[in-house]
Amino acid sequence: MDTSADLRVLLASQYPLLLVATREEQRFLELLRRAAAGLGLPVWIWSASRGLARDGMDPMYGTAEPQRALGVVADLTDPGIFVFTDAHHPLEDPVTLRAVKDAAMTATPGQTIVLSTPRPVMPPELESLAVPWTLRPPDRSELAAMVRRALEDLAATRTPVRLSATEESAIVDALAGLTMADAERLLQRAAIRDGTLGPDDIAFLRAEKAGMLNADGVLEIVERLPAGFEGVGGLDGLKAWLAMRGRALQAGQAGAAGLDAPRGILLTGVPGCGKSLAAKALAAEWHRPLVLLDPSRLYGRYVGESEERLTTSLATVETMSPIVLWIDEIEKGFAAGGDGDGGVSRRLLGTFLRWLQERPDGVFVVATANDVAALPPEFLRKGRFDEVFFVDLPGGEARRAIFSAHLRGRGHDPARFDLDGLSARSDGFSGAEIEAAVVGALYRAFGAGQTLTTRELAAEIGATVPLSVSRREDVARLRAWASTRAVPAG
Ligand SMILES: Nc1ncnc2c1ncn2[C@@H]1O[C@H](COP(=O)(O)OP(=O)(O)OP(=O)(O)O)[C@@H](O)[C@H]1O
Ligand SMILES: [Mg+2]
Repeated sequence: MDTSADLRVLLASQYPLLLVATREEQRFLELLRRAAAGLGLPVWIWSASRGLARDGMDPMYGTAEPQRALGVVADLTDPGIFVFTDAHHPLEDPVTLRAVKDAAMTATPGQTIVLSTPRPVMPPELESLAVPWTLRPPDRSELAAMVRRALEDLAATRTPVRLSATEESAIVDALAGLTMADAERLLQRAAIRDGTLGPDDIAFLRAEKAGMLNADGVLEIVERLPAGFEGVGGLDGLKAWLAMRGRALQAGQAGAAGLDAPRGILLTGVPGCGKSLAAKALAAEWHRPLVLLDPSRLYGRYVGESEERLTTSLATVETMSPIVLWIDEIEKGFAAGGDGDGGVSRRLLGTFLRWLQERPDGVFVVATANDVAALPPEFLRKGRFDEVFFVDLPGGEARRAIFSAHLRGRGHDPARFDLDGLSARSDGFSGAEIEAAVVGALYRAFGAGQTLTTRELAAEIGATVPLSVSRREDVARLRAWASTRAVPAG
């Protein structure tokens, strides 16, 4: 549902108290005015500087004091929406908090008090009374309209604009996920930089957005693996599975052919064998941005703050679709604290699972888990992920491919090396260990003033004790777990 319709339903439901989290106060007020007008409800706005005023009128004398303003609201019986902006400040005062509660409890039908705050807050005193709501970032069509307007403005000031329709749409994509105000400012900056908006600004916009989205550290845009699946050795089963889904996606034919759009996969396995790498390669193959969600960054100080942060992040993710959403070590963020943290991580898990089931088609989730014992069983239930893969130590053929990929990646022709011999010697090595052997061998060769040969590589391998040996039991436990719950990725 679009945001204004959503808001209208919320107002029509006649809740006495709404807690609205938004960093876009202006945009929120605009949407609220429209929704209220649609329902024939007047809007009153309170701010610490002006006091309480019916929208467009002069403020009432003496109402800058929040308790006085709340008293006025409590005395009114006519329907109306009463918005308190920057409400997080007055809410810190227990008496004001009580006044909010009193006003909400005596609200007559059609009266709604709206507390707007830049960050989600939910004082425990209001929990049973207030409905939290988060303003979503603008969707693609809202952004497209803004970009169109901005381009027309630029053209009017005779700033040359040279963009094809595809480029204009790439600009909209590059802004997706930002607030409207941030998107507008960023676009202005791009235009001012060189006096125009051109295709070369798209990369600038993307890079700047990456920094802005990471403001609270929950979401981060991650570099993809330029080589795509080429850069990943082995994992043939996983690659084939993804390639098949990718074809259906690219062709946009999934729906037409009666196929469900792929939703996501869960990767478990032996450390260092390419789980993270697979996420980066996939995003490159599918030409989608790769966004990392770090669930450990969700945890906030207030009750409800963590959940709101998750909701906001997921809403942001949706506006950026189509994307690949990568959640690394999913078991660490969700349900990590069990019931020991007041149930916050449980609730986060619940919110996330619900989203996983309902999320729009354009978001493909790649989740990884290292500690399978800590993985909430809910993740493994049918319908959450399309498939659960187990990424095992690479076999002989895969090790060969991994050597190849890393030699090639460092400018060495793999054909010059005895790959079969290297593969045989490195039995039990993870991909990361093979990479480390290549790097170590390069140093050896460099130190000796020679070019790299099979000999240095063999020496490095001989000097390494792989994890599969030093932590044999752990690997065995992982495999035992996977044998009944996961599909081999190799
Ligand atoms: N199959 C592979 N092909 C090519 N390189 C690999 C492969 N597996 C691992 N590597 C190399 O090892 C590095 C570490 O791998 P990656 O981060 O993908 O492992 P992981 O499975 O996510 O491990 P962890 O469980 O520690 O997070 C990669 O950056 C890559 O260079
Ligand atoms: Mg990893």
